[in-house]
Amino acid sequence: MAFQIQYAEEHDAPALARINILSFETQGLLQALFPGAETPALELHKANNYMKHLANRQMHVVKVTDPLTGELVGNARWQLPEAIWPRDQTPALSEKAQEIAQDPMRLAPRPRNEALLAGFRTMLEHHRKKYLGETDLLLDFLATTPSYQGRGVGSALLRWGTAKADEKQLRIYLEATEAGYPVYVKHGWKVVEEVFFDREQFGGHGRDRFILMMRDPKPLAQSATEPGRT
Ligand SMILES: CC(C)(COP(=O)(O)OP(=O)(O)OC[C@H]1O[C@@H](n2cnc3c(N)ncnc32)[C@H](O)[C@@H]1OP(=O)(O)O)[C@@H](O)C(=O)NCCC(=O)NCCS
Repeated sequence: MAFQIQYAEEHDAPALARINILSFETQGLLQALFPGAETPALELHKANNYMKHLANRQMHVVKVTDPLTGELVGNARWQLPEAIWPRDQTPALSEKAQEIAQDPMRLAPRPRNEALLAGFRTMLEHHRKKYLGETDLLLDFLATTPSYQGRGVGSALLRWGTAKADEKQLRIYLEATEAGYPVYVKHGWKVVEEVFFDREQFGGHGRDRFILMMRDPKPLAQSATEPGRT
């Protein structure tokens, strides 16, 4: 099935939050950040976070919906340099959503492991500073709802961004999970570094492995002749 990519809107936030939580459940990082929080509270937090992303001019929040059921089944967040992709407007947000977008963490569940939260952010920022250049694209997030995985949703969301990058001959940086890694290799990403987030240092348990990856653009002649690249 050819999956269509559309921009997400405010009303999609609860479904985007559910995909986010379901597809990363086994990782358990969110649960470690907000110990004891029930799923509805985590879903509300993630939905609130989406207001921030939707309000961000550089963040292109795109979705895949099953054409038969209308269910939202996949989501990617692409950060595109504004100087190259200027945007007149972001998706329309209600007054309440605009207020939430200013500081979604204010409403985040408690208790929180603040040290773990800060440690995780610092780790991401450190590596983004090191690898993400001014004209690079960033794949900030990619997930397909578990029951739809392996049907091409993730690849369709990836092609949306790789086509843009190829057209302007730009690179794309990302931090891959174990699940994402083989899919990214298939779409042309290469490993730049393997890093571990040690939760123990911040009062948590275990560690998370991330594979930092960069994709160089395909030469224009090659990407233009490849089927299915729109
Ligand atoms: C990574 C992820 C987004 C891939 O999405 P997807 O919709 O399943 O991707 P696709 O269906 O386009 O599959 C891409 C390739 O991966 C393979 N694949 C996907 N899921 C698979 C699975 N569970 N087991 C084995 N292979 C799988 C597919 O077979 C396909 O390869 P092919 O084209 O050679 O057949 C999805 O697995 C996911 O959401 N995982 C959890 C969240 C996550 O880790 N996201 C990545 C963060 S960096």
